[in-house]
This record gives sequence, structure tokens and C-alpha cells, in this order.
Amino acid sequence: PVLVVDFGAQYAQLIARRVREANVYSEVVPHSMPVAEMLAKDPAAIVLSGGPSSVYEEGAPSLDPALLKGGVPVFGMCYGFQAMVQALGGTVAKTGLGEYGATPARVTDTASVLFNGQPDEQSVWMSHGDSVTGAPEGMRVTASTAGAPVAAFEDDERRLYGVQWHPEVMHSTFGQRVLENFLWRGAGIEGDWTAANVVDELVEAIRQQVGESRVLCALSGGVDSSVAAALVQKAVGDQLTCVFVDHGLLRAGEAEQVEKDFVDATGVDLVVVDAKDQFLSALAGVSDPEEKRKIIGREFIRVFEQAARDIVGEHRGDNDHPVEFLVQGTLYPDVVESGGGTGAANIKSHHNVGGLPEDLQFKLVEPLRSLFKDEVRQVGLELGVPEGIVWRQPFPGPGLGIRIVGDVTAERLEVLRAADAIAREELTAAGLDRDIWQCPVVLLADVRSVGVQGDGRTYGHPIVLRPVSSEDAMTADWTRVPYDVLAKISTRITNEVREVNRVVLDVTSKPPGTIEWE
Ligand code: XMP
Repeated sequence: PVLVVDFGAQYAQLIARRVREANVYSEVVPHSMPVAEMLAKDPAAIVLSGGPSSVYEEGAPSLDPALLKGGVPVFGMCYGFQAMVQALGGTVAKTGLGEYGATPARVTDTASVLFNGQPDEQSVWMSHGDSVTGAPEGMRVTASTAGAPVAAFEDDERRLYGVQWHPEVMHSTFGQRVLENFLWRGAGIEGDWTAANVVDELVEAIRQQVGESRVLCALSGGVDSSVAAALVQKAVGDQLTCVFVDHGLLRAGEAEQVEKDFVDATGVDLVVVDAKDQFLSALAGVSDPEEKRKIIGREFIRVFEQAARDIVGEHRGDNDHPVEFLVQGTLYPDVVESGGGTGAANIKSHHNVGGLPEDLQFKLVEPLRSLFKDEVRQVGLELGVPEGIVWRQPFPGPGLGIRIVGDVTAERLEVLRAADAIAREELTAAGLDRDIWQCPVVLLADVRSVGVQGDGRTYGHPIVLRPVSSEDAMTADWTRVPYDVLAKISTRITNEVREVNRVVLDVTSKPPGTIEWE
């Protein structure tokens, strides 16, 4: 792999993604990992990330010079660049000429490894207080800016490279090209991390892990569980059984998409459990959001557990091929954030299956553990998973149950489902799906307001539109959806959904608001 050494900023995962966009496999490791351990991973190259601190600050992470002598190509960015300079005996100084944001850089050698084929003026994204004033011995300076006389350097002999800026952010115009030049030309790595190869590798790994045993998967209809299931299906075919719990809190068309489109495309063996009535009666009269979430979670486990028992039971006699594994859609960011690349102990427990009882102990199959979300989508497309599922926006497990403010009834679900379908249809028609992280549509079932329609007075319910933009759902901003699109949604919902006489827009960021209303 290419190791991305995390110096403690939020950039490491982004860099790892950019490396993969160059079709090269990458892993994030903490800067505290001993050099011997890094080298033991037999890295094809090492990238040093930016970081929050000055190399002079007390407790600032430093770079073990041994890493630069291991014969492995190294590329330092921002803090990583300065840490390299320090380790190699160059000079980092407080010049008072910090640079922040888009900055013009002058490339002094457009035939160099990093800048080959690029213009000699380019805009780069800077964020530094200290500057490198003296390049380490043997380093050729290849770019400079007003505040950074040494803004980039390289030593082709030792295969050491660095830039003062952040090539991983979009605002560095040629950033991806610089990174690719390092990987492909500097380190001589062949870019063969493509969706097709990833599928082959993962399929092989699943076969190795699972052997002849049977595998169970809880399908939610979301991207992750669908792609994970499709991979396992490709690997071990009819050893896999998927369970889809229809809790009746799905949006229009979702159950059909899983039951029909997904099965048609992948050929998985799917058990659909119709638990609509069970969930509705468990939710009857409950309006407290936390209470609703608890009930939905509890019922889900009950239903899934029963289905799992049934399936395990069917194969009880077959001791050679027991139901031994459970598929989980854990992604790489979860693995990095929980501090580990190895060991099952670090994994977040999935809300769907966290409560499985002792006697249903499964080993986990987590085929997406090394992938970022965008790669999961590419793999899904490669596997022929329907686009409607691959590009689906996040949708919470408790579904529409937490988008009805008030208690949940079959009638209210119908109203919300109709309004939601219209909003989704119009946002899609306007080409906004990829600009919007997700757009909850909420029914204020306990609120009524007066309106007028035709010649008559109405006394209906409001629908809230909550379009948000986000990177990771931890923070979000409300999306500035064009007025004419909002107007169309509003007109259609109030015309087509009888119970609704008002459409309102939620213009709250997160924080202080959450994305969902409950
Ligand atoms: P909030 O409302 O906390 O939502 O800003 C953040 C993200 O998480 C989703 N969400 C859930 N997903 N089970 C899930 O699988 C849940 O109980 C749940 N609650 C919220 C929400 O849609 C948003 O993407």
C-alpha cells in the first residue's frame, strides 16, 4: 500500500482518497506508529499529511529521520513537508510571512517529476505560519511563493519530494496532477486500483474467509448493505441469504426497489419479512422521538432475530455448512476513526444487529472495511447494483417513523410518503441529487393551519423540506435550492396531497439543528 501518515489534521483521509483516485491503494496510519512497523507493511510509497501545529511547538509530532532512509519514496505536504525539512537538516523559520488560502506559486522547473507537463504559474492552497527558508542538502527547489521561498523540492536520487501547500484540496488547481506525478513517476507505482480489480480482490478474500459456510445479511436497502451483499453474492453465491425487514416506514418505491430491482440485478436469495403491522401497533400512540427510536430498534431486532433463527434452523442438520457468518457494511472511515486497521474489537456495532442474542453468535464478514463511500459506489456500479440504490442519499434506519412529528399512523405515513415522493421527483428532475446530501421531508402531524383552496377554507398540516449539504453528516448547512424548484415542489404537494395545505423550508444549519427533526 501507499501509507498516508496522519500528523493529526483532518486531511489524512482526504489524501488517502486522492491517492485512490489515482488508482493506487492507500492506508492511513498514525504518526505515532514506529518506523519499523510502517516499513514492515512494505509500502510502495509514503505520504506525510499536513497537521495543525508548528514544528517548533512543544509536543509537536516529529518525523523519525529513519523513515527517509528506508529507500521508500516519500512525499511531504504542508506540515509533513516541514517535518521532512527538519529531519533532513534544513531550516524552518518564523518569517512572519504566513500564507492562508489560494496563493499564486511560481514553478521554477516544469520538467521536474512533480510538475512535469504543468504551467509555471499555478494557484495552490496554503495554510502555514512558518516557512522553509533553507532546503536540506541535496534537495532541488522547484517552486516558490511570496511567503515561501522554498515551496517545493525534490531529490530524484533518494526519491524524496515535498510541497508546502495542500495538493489534496480542490483549490490547488494542479494538486491531483502533482500527487499523480509523485505516485506514478516519482515512486513508479502502477495505478491498478480500479473498481474491477477491487471487486476481484474482495471476492477472493470473501471466498477465503467464508469457505463452505453459510452467510446471513440484513439488507436495509441503503448503499452499504446492498453493495456488501452483492459482493458476497458474487463470491459465494447461494451460500448467502439476505433478510429484508419491511417495517412499513420506507419511502415510496423503496421496498419494491430491493425486492425486485436488486434481486433481478444480483440474483441474491432474499427473504422479505413483512412486519408492517407489527411495527405500526408497537408505535401506536407514541409521539416521543426517543421512545419511537427505541421501539423501532427493538422490533427490528425481534424480527431479524426470528428470521435468523428460522434460517439457521433450516440448515441445522447440515453441520458441515453451518450459518456461521453475518455481513456488515462497515466502511474504512469507521475503521480509521475507531483507531484501528486490524482487530474486530474496534468496530462500531451496527445499529441493526447490535442486539443479537448470545446463541446466535456470528463471525463478521466486512467486505467494505477498506473502502471509502465513493469507492463503495464504484464497486456497486461494477457489480451491476441498480443506480437508484448506488446513488441513494442517506436514509435513517427508523425511516419515516422519525419524520412524522406526532404519533405514527398508517394514514400519516401515506401523506408523508406522497409528499416525499413529489419532493424527490422534483429535486431529481432539477438535477440536484448530487448537490444535496439528503433532504428529509417532515410531516408536522400535530400542527394544523388555516388555508384556502378553491372556494373553501382548509385546515391542514404543514410539510417541512429539509435539504442539507454536508460532507459527513456531523455538520451541515441548508442547501440553497433554487426558488423555482421550491415553488414547483410546494405547488405540487399542496395540489396533490389533500391533507397538506402549507410547505415550509427549514433554513437551520447543523449545529444547532440536527438533520432529522426527531
Ligand atoms: P442527525 O439528525 O443526527 O442525523 O443530524 C445525522 C445523519 O444520521 C442519519 N440518522 C440515522 N441513521 N439510524 C440511522 O441509520 C438512525 O437512527 C439515524 N438517525 C439519524 C440522518 O439521516 C443523517 O444522515
